[in-house]
Amino acid sequence: MTPAARMAAAIGVLDRVLGGLPAEQALLRWSRASRFAGSGDRAAVRDLVYDALRRRNSLAARGGSLSGRGLMIGHLRDAGLDTGAVFTGQGHAPLPLTEDELGAGHDGEVPDLPDWLLPHWRDALGERADQVARAMGQRAPVWLRVNPLRGSVTDAIDLLAAEGIEIRQDARLATALCVTSGERRVAQSRPYRDGLVELQDLSPQLACAQLPLAAGDRVLDFCAGGGGKTLAVAGRQAGLRLFAHDADPGRMRDLPLRAERAGVDVEPMQHPQGHFDLVIADVPCSGSGTWRRSPDAKWRLTPEALAALIATQAGILGRTAGLVSPGGHLAYMTCSVLDEENDLQIDAFLARHAAFSRVARYLWTPIEAGDGFFLSLLRRAA
Ligand SMILES: C[S@@+](CC[C@H](N)C(=O)[O-])C[C@H]1O[C@@H](n2cnc3c(N)ncnc32)[C@H](O)[C@@H]1O
Repeated sequence: MTPAARMAAAIGVLDRVLGGLPAEQALLRWSRASRFAGSGDRAAVRDLVYDALRRRNSLAARGGSLSGRGLMIGHLRDAGLDTGAVFTGQGHAPLPLTEDELGAGHDGEVPDLPDWLLPHWRDALGERADQVARAMGQRAPVWLRVNPLRGSVTDAIDLLAAEGIEIRQDARLATALCVTSGERRVAQSRPYRDGLVELQDLSPQLACAQLPLAAGDRVLDFCAGGGGKTLAVAGRQAGLRLFAHDADPGRMRDLPLRAERAGVDVEPMQHPQGHFDLVIADVPCSGSGTWRRSPDAKWRLTPEALAALIATQAGILGRTAGLVSPGGHLAYMTCSVLDEENDLQIDAFLARHAAFSRVARYLWTPIEAGDGFFLSLLRRAA
């Protein structure tokens, strides 16, 4: 496909997304109907769609309308490219710009967030609000976590380099590697297949590095999903007894294979009982910290959905409180930057649970780390 044909395809996909179809489904529908498209075409159309969704409001303003065409016109103008060279109507290229389209659009700054969310965003991030919002408009880098149970950081760096994957180490955490080239080769690479490296953003890695762990500790990952946090803590401390639970056990279907690849023993628990030295509650959330990776979710979040998530989080906190040993810890995590899901949620929990106190609190953002990620570490009195 020519670059112009790819852009025409992206316009069609974006119109479907703006009509209400989730981005992944819209892309899948297009790629099923476009057997002629190769993997490079699919990747390029996907990039155009995701880049446009990350900066939906500002590109629509530049392009003059919130439509597939408006977004792609905005995308070209933003990059300083000539719309006339792409919108030619020749072959599979989009039709030339109309008189109205030629006259529409402005380049003033427009926040790339839903209007209803702006006050929440500003309350949570204060003077950093605009900077973090802009950072959410950029693509997220790929981060890897070296699994010390399978080899050293040097082994990982050398083996990745041998497969053309270049990295840069994070100064704060030696096991956190940012991929600087060869991202698309990671999932097929030997260190990944052998469990020496896992895909994990920097911020949750930094969060897991703050958890108090000692050999012999019983650790429960209460919202385990694919087990990212379970595997990360297993890599930090030998001799842990690890238990994984999820309200939807189907979400843990990949965990046995991932754990085996990583050399980690994890016991699934359908009905957690008893006490644990550390309970990790990596709760379902708005994902507002990860909107660089899933920008579609930013526009799909509603006040009602946020309220429902906040209620679920409060319920999980209440349930997990009873599972923490006296003197043990509860690690509450979200990949959100919103106060309602973070500090306000914890303030309300502490007001209801006098036995707990706050030991530490972190909010990472793309400005100084990776995705937006929150950790509140609470201790139950002995
Ligand atoms: C943010 S995801 C967890 C991601 C996972 N910890 C990881 O690192 O890959 C939240 C998980 O919470 C689970 N969940 C939702 N409601 C729950 C509840 N009431 N109790 C336990 N788990 C719940 C969801 O099924 C989902 O897998």
